[in-house]
Formats: sequence, structure tokens, C-alpha cells
Amino acid sequence: MAEVVVIKFGGGLITNKTKLCTPELAVINDLVDVVGQCLDSGKRVIVVHGAGSFGHLRAKYWRLNEGLVADENFVPEKDCRNQIQAVSIVRKDMLTLNSIIKSAFARRGISTTSLPPHLWAKNTGSNFDGDIATTFASTESVPITFGDVVDCDIGSFGILSGDDLVVRICRDVPNVKRLIFAIKGVDGIMSKPPSEALPSDLIVEWSPSVKFTGIHHTDIDVTGGIGLKASRGAEVAAMGVDVFIVNGGYPQRLIDACLGKPTRGTQIFSE
Ligand code: IPE
Repeated sequence: MAEVVVIKFGGGLITNKTKLCTPELAVINDLVDVVGQCLDSGKRVIVVHGAGSFGHLRAKYWRLNEGLVADENFVPEKDCRNQIQAVSIVRKDMLTLNSIIKSAFARRGISTTSLPPHLWAKNTGSNFDGDIATTFASTESVPITFGDVVDCDIGSFGILSGDDLVVRICRDVPNVKRLIFAIKGVDGIMSKPPSEALPSDLIVEWSPSVKFTGIHHTDIDVTGGIGLKASRGAEVAAMGVDVFIVNGGYPQRLIDACLGKPTRGTQIFSE
């Protein structure tokens, strides 16, 4: 059975986070090439992508991560009057981003299957409800899923992050060997905030007892930044999967990480 590599394309990497619904097409093409090389070497690849400006900006304004909140807390926008509309707009925008990524794969001759979480998953956090084993069973094409607005038992809806999806994929899909988080603008987990960090501040091996000051743009993001990746990564490492955080701006590093070759980045351990 082929080894499975799970790769998360960070939303900040594949979109311009400050401009609503703006994809970074050149970056997406580079990432598709990375997956292509990984497939060429005989691996099975599962792609999970984030939201960036296709999800966070509107989800933040409409507080979709908090579930249903009374209407009087919001000033309606021109194209969106309430949270329920915001849920359907963000779901639609995520499908648009997903189709941009699918098209990039198609141009490279790689067939993909999109698995939007709002169709098969419920509730948030890495314990969300969803039958991963069945949903990801087909090995004919590259499965792609993504952070999404899902239905929830409490609060009607919430945000299921790609960082939560990868935990369950690594647990429930047979033979997952590696998980790679491709992130924007930084080589991995740094011991200092990225704006102050020198290359030598890269934490090459991280486990939960190692302290660091990651940045999390709580003004823009509704999910957890590098801290969430680190803690979810540690959960996955505990399953015996090799977990790496790698600068997504360097495709060769991603290829090496996917193929299990040493490269610059942070490897995450459970302890
Ligand atoms: C967030 O998913 C989903 C929405 C805001 C709809 P992620 O947590 O996986 O997204 P990024 O990688 O931070 O953009």
C-alpha cells in the first residue's frame, strides 16, 4: 500500500490575506508542482487547504466562529444582511477557492476530488463528527478538503479549521506517514516573534514543553495561527506520523519534507 502524505496549504500562503477573496496563483501553481512530484515518486497525497481571505475576513466580521449571535450585534453589509447569509457566502467563497486550486491541479494533469466539510462533517475541533475513513477511501484521485463553516449541535454553525481536519485524516486514513504544514513567510516555529527572529532562531525540533512566541492575527483570523498548528501537530506526532512545519515559499523544502529527506523547517514531536 502506498505511503500517504497529508499536506496543508496555509490560507495565508495561498491567498492575499488582506484583500477579500484574492488567490496567490503563482504560489498555488508551485504547491501543485510539489504534490505532482510527490505523486510521481509513488506516494498518495491528501491536500487540505486553508481559507485566508476567502474565509477569515467575512467569518471574523460575522463572528461565525461563535455560532449564532443575535442580529442586533451586527451592522449589515451591502451584500450580506445577517449571519445565516454570511454562512452561505463563506461556504460559496471557499468553494470558489477550492475550484481555483482544482483547476491548477487539472492544468498539471492531476485529477482531484473535492470533499467540502459542510457536506460531510459536523461540529468543530479535532473531535468533530465525520466518517473520514469512508469519505477519503477512494485512491483514484487526489482528495482535497479545506477549512469550512460546518453545522454544529450547539450554536447552529462554527468554523472547522483545516488544522483540525488534518488530525483526523492522519488518524483515520490508513498508512499516513507524514504531515506537512506549508506556511507563509517563516521557516517554521521560531523562538522569537518572526519580525525579530534571525535564521538561527528556528526551532528545528519542537515539542509542547518548548516555549515560543508565535504570532496569531486575532484581528483577522477566526482560527488559531501557528499555535494551533503546533498543538495539532503534536497530537498527530503522538500517532507515529512525522510532522513538519515548512516555509511554503520554498517548493524544494516542501518536496524534501514530503519525501522524508532532511530540510529546513520545524519537526514536531509529541514530547
Ligand atoms: C478556516 O480554515 C476556515 C474559514 C475561515 C472558513 P483554516 O483554519 O484551515 O484556514 P487558514 O489556513 O488559517 O487560512
